Amino acid sequence: MSHLSKFVLPDAEIPNYWANVLPSLKEPLEMPIHPGTKQPLSPADLAPIFPMSLIEQEFSPEPEIDIPGPVMDIYRLWRPTPLYRAHRLEAALQTPAHIYYKYEGTSPAGSHKPNTSVAQAYYNKEAGIRRLATETGAGQWGSALALACQLFGLECTVYMVRISYDQKPYRRMMMNAWGAEVFASPSDHTDSGRAVLAQHPDSPGSLGIAISEAVEDAAKHSDTNYALGSVLNHVLLHQTVIGLECQKQMALAEEKPDVVIGCFGGGSNFGGIVLPYFLQKLKGDPVRLLAVEPSACPTLTKGVFAYDFGDIAKLTPLLKMYTLGHDFVPPGIHAGGLRYHGASPLASHLLKHGWLEARSYGQLGCFEAALQFARTEAILPAPESSHAIRAVIDEALAAREEGKQRNILFCLSGHGHFDLGSYDAYLNGKLQDYEYPAEAIAASMAALPKV
Ligand SMILES: Cc1ncc(COP(=O)(O)O)c(C=O)c1O
Repeated sequence: MSHLSKFVLPDAEIPNYWANVLPSLKEPLEMPIHPGTKQPLSPADLAPIFPMSLIEQEFSPEPEIDIPGPVMDIYRLWRPTPLYRAHRLEAALQTPAHIYYKYEGTSPAGSHKPNTSVAQAYYNKEAGIRRLATETGAGQWGSALALACQLFGLECTVYMVRISYDQKPYRRMMMNAWGAEVFASPSDHTDSGRAVLAQHPDSPGSLGIAISEAVEDAAKHSDTNYALGSVLNHVLLHQTVIGLECQKQMALAEEKPDVVIGCFGGGSNFGGIVLPYFLQKLKGDPVRLLAVEPSACPTLTKGVFAYDFGDIAKLTPLLKMYTLGHDFVPPGIHAGGLRYHGASPLASHLLKHGWLEARSYGQLGCFEAALQFARTEAILPAPESSHAIRAVIDEALAAREEGKQRNILFCLSGHGHFDLGSYDAYLNGKLQDYEYPAEAIAASMAALPKV
């Protein structure tokens, strides 16, 4: 069946559960730590900003968690998403490799992010919350949460990283259209934002700063909770619908992947596609799982595995993860969703224990790959997703060199229709690769908390 280009599942084949890998881990996951007491975090510590149902999912021992009916009803608007075989890209690369991609850009917000925003909005509504506050880097997560809040009748406040706010005005407008209020971060609406602005009035912002603002907003208002678009276990859990659908679709293609690839910001689309395959790997499947990040923000490839804060103002619990230091502000690359100093503790744990591989690329090589993809497969990828495509092309070229067939599966996490300014800059030679920001990272690493 691999001569087909598209593998589409009927609505009834949307998985009715999310796959939880926590009970299957060989070594226990390092627990989050309370920043004040330095003791393991208790569920009650998270209650001021998250509903209990999500806190339970964060630590759940259940291997499968049922997807609630109202969430399924909304998933059905665009799920199952299509799996494609990239015949035209394969031909252009003259590779014996078979390249498959799971396209998450068919969601209304244009990426994988609604898989969790819808679930999070649902559980918060159930818990009687009136408003959600969040951060957004690329604008994809903010759009996804704005949409989900609208569908469940919640208000939504988004702190959007300043550089993306300036680069991508249409993302802000999309959030406004779905009823959200949007502030450029650092903003003067929070103590955390004001503190950054006092020191760096021209700060381009970072996800670490925007998270501080959103967490502070939620902590100060009893009717408001915080929603995170990546990093935490429950977010990766909701994203496993991606990999679970892929497994059914690869069965339709009568093939199995040799390598599964995703770009990596906080780890949610990567976790979403690879975690169901990690469960296969535990049973002896030799499948490789490859995370791809920007070399300007090389958390997995150059960071340390240590307890650190998820945000600049040190409001979040301490998470054991690969980190570049919580006050590292990454260079203003155009893949705004990959500008995060930390990484999902679950993905970090799996990398540390040798289950995953990680690789980094500069943005110029990624835009080159994105254009090759757009000019063969027709879809214009999000700059974040282009990192996965760079690695896919390199894997396919390696297969050509070795003269060996291999099946490559990757997550095309979103489209780039709101990123045309970045494509324009690239096409006009205005983009640069950034040197590895060694000094800034060293300074930030020196400020890691002592645990
Ligand atoms: C299209 C797209 N892909 C990937 C990412 C990276 O996030 P994550 O690592 O959580 O998937 C983002 C983040 O905003 C995004 O917008």
